[in-house]
Amino acid sequence: MSGQDEQKPIGVGLIGFGTIGTGVVKVLRDNAEVIEQRLGSRLRLVRIADLDLDTDRGVDLSGIVFDADASALIADPDVQIVIELIGGYDVPRKFILEAFAAGKHVVTANKALLALHGREIFGAAASASVEVAFEAAVGGGIPVLRSLREGLAANQIETVLGILNGTTNYVLTEMESTGEDFDVVLKRAQELGYAEADPTFDVEGIDAAHKLALMTTMAFGAEITFEDIPTTGIRGLLPIDFELAAQFGYRIKLLGIAKCHRSEDGQERIEARVQPTLVRDSSLLAKVDGAMNAVLVIGNAVGPTLYYGAGAGEMPTASAVVGDLMEIAREIRRGGSGPVPPLSYFPEQIGPKPFVPDAELSGRHYLRISVKDQPGLLGRVTSLLGDEAVAVETAMVRSANGSDSIILLTGVAAEDGMQRAIVRIVELDEVTEMPRVIRIEEEA
Ligand code: HSE
Repeated sequence: MSGQDEQKPIGVGLIGFGTIGTGVVKVLRDNAEVIEQRLGSRLRLVRIADLDLDTDRGVDLSGIVFDADASALIADPDVQIVIELIGGYDVPRKFILEAFAAGKHVVTANKALLALHGREIFGAAASASVEVAFEAAVGGGIPVLRSLREGLAANQIETVLGILNGTTNYVLTEMESTGEDFDVVLKRAQELGYAEADPTFDVEGIDAAHKLALMTTMAFGAEITFEDIPTTGIRGLLPIDFELAAQFGYRIKLLGIAKCHRSEDGQERIEARVQPTLVRDSSLLAKVDGAMNAVLVIGNAVGPTLYYGAGAGEMPTASAVVGDLMEIAREIRRGGSGPVPPLSYFPEQIGPKPFVPDAELSGRHYLRISVKDQPGLLGRVTSLLGDEAVAVETAMVRSANGSDSIILLTGVAAEDGMQRAIVRIVELDEVTEMPRVIRIEEEA
């Protein structure tokens, strides 16, 4: 490098050579020059480990050791930073802990692991005085975690809300615009490389809950796992839901929502959920289509901020992984500049916080209730809702999926009242399946 001392390259090992791993190799090769200019050193991919040694990934691997031995990669003295891109829980957990024990820094995109075993992983990294970076775990290529940790660090965060899963956003967008079946569209999302190895995680909202759990900790210092977050997926939505949502002036988006309710005496309580949601068709989130993600973060000083970009896929996710590599490489070059807590709070500041009870939460809802022999039933359903103080603003009967459906838009009502009313509606003989309840989120 002209004008600077030649710096030793920083050695990198990659465990997991799938879609994102291939993207990482491409970014490191295609952008080597700009990376070196910004870093003052080269990032050298020394080794790759994967069980599949046969598939041609279409990238040049000359000069890189490629075998199935992840432990040898971790132990290699030329590897200073280990990238974990395997996915799943047990195997990556073992390799990450092995890397920390060997004094290696780790970059991972594994939100599932961090959302379940975060306390152990972050604790082990701190004990070993190494870095763990995970920007790619949320929002694909969007640097939203770095914004929460650094750019917004001065704020009391009030709300984190967004479209956190590219696969489901792609499926919802395509179902709405083409009228195609759910399974056909999901298969296409998998072929495009958006979906998790197990697409159930995407479809059932679990991947979004993993990401929301991480952001809830980073935003509010709340100790939470994805299992604490009430989660509903997108399976079972019908074309009529999209059609009527549009008629009412809304679009359907799978949202992850986390809010911190602060009382005057300083008590903090958390509201968090993942569910299909009706958002106003004029809102910015309604315009986020395909595999794009968008996250709205509201801070008490900064106000609303919005982060938008590709939430899944080979190159966007690789962008975040290599960005993390560079951040750690800068630390290495500086000789370590002191701890930057990866979760934005120091571990002793993170603790359990109570959830706001459903009785204190309220909202408007869209209800689709499949029924048989519906004459007169609308009045009884409306009356059951009324018993729980749920007012009906709009009501209609439509044919959908071979049976009649009662469609309702409610006024603002307490969550617990709505849930009690649904239990009573399901008990009616004429109701043929669990009603579809979609919350309306005006704040989005
Ligand atoms: N399966 C995930 C998604 C990948 O569709 O958003 C990115 O985290």
